[in-house]
Amino acid sequence: MDSQTTYNYKVVRQFAIMTVVWGIVGMLVGVIIAAQLVWPQLSFDLPWLTYSRLRPLHTNAVIFAFGGSALFATSYYVVQRTCQVRLISDKLAAFTFWGWTVVILLAAITLPLGITSGKEYAELEWPIDILITVVWVVYAIVFFGTIVKRRTPHIYVANWFFGAFILTVAVLHIINSAALPVSLFKSYSVYSGTIDAMVQWWYGHNAVGFFLTAGFLGIMYYFVPKQAGRPVYSYRLSVVHFWSLISVYMWAGPHHLHYTALPDWTQSLGVAFSILLLAPSWGGMINGIMTLSGAWHKLRTDPILKFLIVSLSFYGMSTFEGPMMAIKTVNALSHYTEWTIGHVHSGALGWVAMVTIGSIYALIPQLFGKKEMYSIKLIDTHFWVATIGVVLYIVSMWIAGVMQGLMWRAINSDGTLTYSFVESLERIYPYYIVRLVGGALFFSGMLIMAYNVWKTVAGSEAADDTIPQTA
Ligand code: HEM
Ligand code: HEM
Repeated sequence: MDSQTTYNYKVVRQFAIMTVVWGIVGMLVGVIIAAQLVWPQLSFDLPWLTYSRLRPLHTNAVIFAFGGSALFATSYYVVQRTCQVRLISDKLAAFTFWGWTVVILLAAITLPLGITSGKEYAELEWPIDILITVVWVVYAIVFFGTIVKRRTPHIYVANWFFGAFILTVAVLHIINSAALPVSLFKSYSVYSGTIDAMVQWWYGHNAVGFFLTAGFLGIMYYFVPKQAGRPVYSYRLSVVHFWSLISVYMWAGPHHLHYTALPDWTQSLGVAFSILLLAPSWGGMINGIMTLSGAWHKLRTDPILKFLIVSLSFYGMSTFEGPMMAIKTVNALSHYTEWTIGHVHSGALGWVAMVTIGSIYALIPQLFGKKEMYSIKLIDTHFWVATIGVVLYIVSMWIAGVMQGLMWRAINSDGTLTYSFVESLERIYPYYIVRLVGGALFFSGMLIMAYNVWKTVAGSEAADDTIPQTA
């Protein structure tokens, strides 16, 4: 087929397959660190297997390799389909795939070696940061260039979310990673003290807001209506959702720094904006879930839709929990405890991973010229294994977290602490085991997915749809 009249699905296929691969790798590391918290001897006294080095490997692998690949795959697919035009450059798109792969491999080598900038979610050292910047700028050129070239009169809302995610992540990454290199493997942040902390959590919170949320809302706005076979519930609400979400998220970062040297008014500002954030978040969730009105019966037979809709429920849950945890008195209990970890994974597994899994199941047959996935029954099995896994993970962490928080603050009548730190650790030990079981279940779901994808893809012809000429 003439390359002028077809979509570029090659790069979408590459990123879609790598989403599954990196999902397995990142979650396997998650299961390993969960196991290390139960059996610390699992680090085998090897420096590169210690918890402190594997933990950032886990976060980088799941957020940037798994989540990132899903975002590249879906944004490249959605921008082409909704603009009815091929990506502006196959070469630049291929560069983003290989560039991103090199970034991930460098992360996988440097983090276990202990090479780190020490900034959470921005651990990679300066040479890798520069490569990320180059890849990201090329990504922006391909994405926005394709939008400029579009053959449809308007820009579908999913692209607004993808666009905001791409632009904001560029700004966050460049500002937060500004550093003075002292050698090839070591640099120091240009910011210091409290300012460094504020810049870091402005970055950290917006990484959640734009990488783990806005981009995935782009996925939601395309794949939920598509899979439900219905238009989005309210287009007007989606526009309000977009502008309110992006304008409020930027200001909520200080809730990560409660009771620190950060000026008090900044912390209060963070609380106010975090509570405000509930409104756009729930507006988006309701818009997604209500898209199913009139088609609820499809949930009974379509496990892909189940993944998408349940992910929205977890989105609603974590965006209710987040504003509550941002309130200073609540944060005084939750901070430093496993409650935060429960919150993180209700967003990360329940929302991000579930919506990704649903959209990849919807994409794979399209990309490989198949009518549907090899086994719908296996998707259903995956759905249940994953759902039980998330629930075990987050419930165990909530219980453990609240228990820790209460034990740490308990004091006797003479003002001494009622419990030692080790006593609190002993109490949460059983919950670490439950989390490990939940995590292992979620991980095994990914293996089921890999098998299903393999059976769907093996022996099939890569398919590139023709672009409609009538737009
Ligand atoms: C309305 C939306 C949300 C608000 C207001 C919010 C608020 C919060 C608060 C208050 C904390 C605890 C900070 C601390 O005590 O250190 C936190 C931690 C966190 N949240 Fe959320 N959250 C929201 C949604 C989400 C979602 C949807 C995700 C994931 C997709 C997420 C991921 C995280 C992560 C990764 C952390 C841990 C950061 C760290 O300390 O490393 N949040 N959030
Ligand atoms: C099989 C699945 C998974 C397991 C078993 C797992 C396990 C873990 C463990 C044990 C930790 C360290 C907790 C601690 O220090 O107390 C952690 C941290 C984290 N995980 Fe996962 N994880 C999984 C999937 C994911 C996914 C899919 C994402 C993101 C999309 C994710 C994002 C994070 C983040 C952001 C943190 C750091 C939280 C913080 O610093 O507050 N995880 N994970």
